[in-house]
Amino acid sequence: MRAGRLFGMFLLVNLQAFAAGTDEQLPPLHHPVEVEIPDGMEIPDTFPLSADGRLDCKTCHGIEGIGELPFDELDREAPDFHRGGPYRRLTDFCYRCHDRREYSRSNIHKLLDERGEYDEEACRQCHLEVPDPGEENIVRSELKFRLPPQRLCYGCHLRAPHLNALDHQVKPDEEMRERIGRAERGLGVILPLDGDGKIMCATCHTAHQRGLIDPQWPAGRQVADTDLDEGVTYREHVWNRVFQADKRERLEVLAGEEGAAPVLSYRRIEKEVLIRLPAKDGTLCLVCHEFER
Ligand code: HEC
Ligand code: HEC
Ligand code: HEC
Ligand code: HEC
Ligand code: HEC
Ligand code: HEC
Repeated sequence: MRAGRLFGMFLLVNLQAFAAGTDEQLPPLHHPVEVEIPDGMEIPDTFPLSADGRLDCKTCHGIEGIGELPFDELDREAPDFHRGGPYRRLTDFCYRCHDRREYSRSNIHKLLDERGEYDEEACRQCHLEVPDPGEENIVRSELKFRLPPQRLCYGCHLRAPHLNALDHQVKPDEEMRERIGRAERGLGVILPLDGDGKIMCATCHTAHQRGLIDPQWPAGRQVADTDLDEGVTYREHVWNRVFQADKRERLEVLAGEEGAAPVLSYRRIEKEVLIRLPAKDGTLCLVCHEFER
């Protein structure tokens, strides 16, 4: 398979997979199960296969009897939900089996080629109808997506990709909504909420490479002080060593097996990308929060 298509396919293929032993249907974008392991793919020894050597629920999930449990009772935050976890990036989990080199270049957010042009196929990974980035007055509620926009990111990113991401999936109160409205007008940016008025990934982040949407329009306003190959980088905070020493015991437990990154560290953002306003100087946070200075 051509390198780079793996993620797109994961999103496009609507797998009507059923969990063995229950009537519960797997989520529509779930990974294929009961498939054979192709030659050349190395599955870690700690990932048990089914008796006939295929992918089983237990290969990927450390939750005992996941196929028999009602899905809404599952603890998705359990470290072993993805076997060998917790992982900092969901892609780190994928790379336990798939070849990192083969699709590390596949980044759905890289939408523009060298000439600054795009292929609508790439847009259709998220959009059902591709909006024209050259059009000025787009009514956001009329955009049609393959999934509700608040769920678009989950096939590839964890629900809690970083500290606080989960705490933020709530509905801001009226006072905060007014602050958001004022900031949108004042700073010339969009901070869209989902259909229920809740904060979603795309409230803070944009999914588009800079330049796809004209940067003079609110939806095109974004921070990119690095490119998408390098991605977001962090600098260790001077306190980090103290913080780490303090938490060493917990970190060691969390770090788990090889491949799993420690999730707790005290970091400062160094370079940002795919974010609507800078967070490293607090601008983004101050849209909604009034912190003591
Ligand atoms: C190749 C690895 C793999 C196999 C095999 C696998 N899963 Fe998953 N499963 C995943 C990944 C990856 C996710 C989460 C993606 C995400 O975070 O959005 C997931 C998510 C889930 C979820 C949570 C869905 C949600 O949206 O909350 C359930 C339930 C689940 N799997 C059940 C199963 C069952 C039952 C089986 C066996 C029939 C199975 N899985 C086999 C990789 C796998
Ligand atoms: C336990 C090993 C394992 C893990 C972990 C795993 N996969 Fe897979 N994956 C497989 C196997 C085995 C197949 C089926 C053989 C193949 O098509 O390469 C497969 C197939 C796929 C396919 C379909 C390819 C096709 O040709 O139809 C996609 C897309 C995919 N994986 C993406 C992912 C993503 C994204 C993740 C992480 C969220 C992931 N995989 C995690 C083992 C794994
Ligand atoms: C990873 C998912 C994803 C991909 C891929 C994607 N988009 Fe989007 N797009 C979104 C989301 C989410 C929104 C709604 C929030 C926003 O405006 O950023 C959106 C909104 C838009 C908007 C409306 C902006 C506004 O004025 O509010 C345009 C125009 C757009 N996309 C064009 C494109 C084009 C053209 C492509 C392909 C080159 C593309 N998108 C690819 C997720 C995606
Ligand atoms: C089809 C898979 C896919 C989907 C869907 C997706 N992403 Fe990504 N995203 C990636 C990959 C691959 C990267 C590169 C880094 C990596 O490997 O994790 C990335 C990187 C990022 C980054 C950080 C840049 C970096 O590399 O450090 C942000 C922020 C991000 N995505 C936000 C989103 C948001 C918000 C959505 C939903 C609107 C979304 N993504 C949907 C695959 C995806
Ligand atoms: C309240 C704002 C906010 C929300 C909501 C949010 N993020 Fe972030 N995210 C940030 C900030 C701030 C960073 C740090 C990097 C930066 O400033 O660009 C970041 C970094 C990231 C990164 C890249 C860095 C890394 O550590 O891997 C990814 C990927 C990412 N977010 C995905 C998501 C996804 C997926 C969601 C939804 C589940 C989400 N974010 C929700 C603010 C947010
Ligand atoms: C779009 C609005 C919005 C933005 C932007 C935003 N927040 Fe929040 N934040 C909220 C809401 C809503 C809550 C939950 C209610 C509350 O605690 O006020 C919250 C909660 C929090 C909490 C408390 C979580 C807990 O455990 O109780 C922290 C800490 C936080 N935000 C930090 C930040 C930081 C740091 C940034 C910038 C990177 C940021 N927020 C950006 C709206 C926002």
